[in-house]
Amino acid sequence: MLSKDEKGEIEAEAARYETRQAAAIDAMRIVQRRRGWVSDEAIAELAAFLQMPAAQLDSVASFYNQIFRRPVGRHVIQICDSVSCWLTGYEPLRDHLARELGVGLGGTTADGRFTLLPVACLGACDQAPAMLVDEDLHTGLDAGSIGAILDRYR
Ligand code: FES
Repeated sequence: MLSKDEKGEIEAEAARYETRQAAAIDAMRIVQRRRGWVSDEAIAELAAFLQMPAAQLDSVASFYNQIFRRPVGRHVIQICDSVSCWLTGYEPLRDHLARELGVGLGGTTADGRFTLLPVACLGACDQAPAMLVDEDLHTGLDAGSIGAILDRYR
């Protein structure tokens, strides 16, 4: 069930738009910030609160790759899996990350610290290869820089 605080935050966002549905992404981000991810139950509750069909909200969520529809670790690493990064070392970087974390793409470390996901272009092609950790963009990556970056996220 949506908490009083969640409802309050969502109402404040919805007030900025002409329709309640326009606050769909904000509403899902609010829930995700508090719960870590957006479950089917949360989609149903949010859809009712925003007065829109749950299937419509679910499709908004699936187009927006910053909304997690499955449980994730405390920190989410999104490694860019697009052309400029392919040309500048994506594969060895992905393999190095997978080895360091002990998980493949889509996996979460046993301690729940990290989830590793692929993502389309992060808009930092001139500084490829790139990845996001939570909201932080890291660029110009190579295997040697990964360890120090991961150490920042406990
Ligand atoms: Fe990786 Fe654009 S292709 S940041």
